[in-house]
Amino acid sequence: MKHSSNATQVFDQWIRGSFVDINTELESLYWQQEDRDNVEGIGEGLKRQLESEGRALIKVLLAEGNTSQNFDNAFNLLGSVGLYMAACRRHELTEPARETRSPLIEASALAMHLGPTIGMAPRFSTAHLTTHNVAENGIYKRFTTLHDESLFVDYNTRSILAFKRAAEALEKIHVMGVSHPLCYDLLLAAKQGLSEVIESNAILFSELDTDRFFHCVRPYYKPYRVGTQIYRGANAGDFAGINIVDMLLGLCRANEPFYSQMLVDKFTYMMPEDQQLLRNCMQGSNLMDDFLSQQHYKNQAWYQRNLTVFLAVCELHGATAIQHHDQLVNKYIAQPASKVQSQHMNKLTASGPPLHVLLRSLEKLRDLRAANPRNDIATRYHDILTLQASLN
Ligand code: HEM
Repeated sequence: MKHSSNATQVFDQWIRGSFVDINTELESLYWQQEDRDNVEGIGEGLKRQLESEGRALIKVLLAEGNTSQNFDNAFNLLGSVGLYMAACRRHELTEPARETRSPLIEASALAMHLGPTIGMAPRFSTAHLTTHNVAENGIYKRFTTLHDESLFVDYNTRSILAFKRAAEALEKIHVMGVSHPLCYDLLLAAKQGLSEVIESNAILFSELDTDRFFHCVRPYYKPYRVGTQIYRGANAGDFAGINIVDMLLGLCRANEPFYSQMLVDKFTYMMPEDQQLLRNCMQGSNLMDDFLSQQHYKNQAWYQRNLTVFLAVCELHGATAIQHHDQLVNKYIAQPASKVQSQHMNKLTASGPPLHVLLRSLEKLRDLRAANPRNDIATRYHDILTLQASLN
């Protein structure tokens, strides 16, 4: 935290210290109940302590005005205020359905000052917890000391970084063209990146405890109000890399209404550099169309060699989506949600829509990425068959 004010540093230390201890203690109290989703009437003293200690520190920051002075400091501070607001929401000190305006007046004002300054939503984003979360003496910012929280965050971060490596390789091909001899190497690099996503997600799937995740980790990712507006929860998808892979491969297209709606919704949840990358990618062509338009070269060695790996990359990208939906979402959201007592059902997802609506839209994304045949959305099922038929 170079050149940040004293008040910013004090708040940062509180977020890394007492804040984590209070949340962890509260999780332990909730966990001991028969109905683990209930937070009402539990640990009231701890909740008050969390709310008031945070408020007092934030008041100083708000009075200080523009304390951040550079992007990194503003981004860090927005993350800390966001973590505080998300924890207050998790413990139901705030509840967007109950209120029309966040009762965290000072925190909202500070977040609304910081967010637009750096071109992001005024809440914490995935990058605050994953790829841009500064560690001190081996520990990065977090909500609790629970093993399953760090497991979840670490494997999310691994997977995000691997998607980014795949995206970077594909962006380079896009400049050189699919017949370039180095296209092959770059496709192999993309393949490697996506294989690492699959490997990382597989470990997450086997090691993350369903109940711990569902009851003690996921609730910190719920939507909350900043000022009067509700901002959807953070999810591991809030980075550009996965969409760059989608669009450069040609599996998803920015002119498909369902897909473009999702892109529009996620812009301000991403780092500004990712927003720029995504914008650039939305304007360009894609590798699948490039191969389709060069089928007259199908007897050339480059075509056979590069297309073979290209199709393998498409298949792997589809496999990451199938894994996300059929394994992670199913095991950690859909199945435990079916057991939740009815009074807690309306609070399940990070983005707010009812669970069955959310699941339907994640299913569409899976089918686009896996090029599955569908009548309601334009997947690349037939184009993939055409390209496969052009291989010797
Ligand atoms: C979105 C669940 C791990 C990538 C979502 C959503 C859910 C979900 C429910 C919809 C967001 C919402 O509620 O509004 C899970 C669970 C995970 C997990 C339960 C693990 C326990 C990951 C990982 C990645 C990832 C490791 C890899 C980067 C995405 C993406 C989206 C998303 C890209 C946005 C929609 C899309 O483009 O597919 N996830 N997720 N998720 N998640 Fe995950």
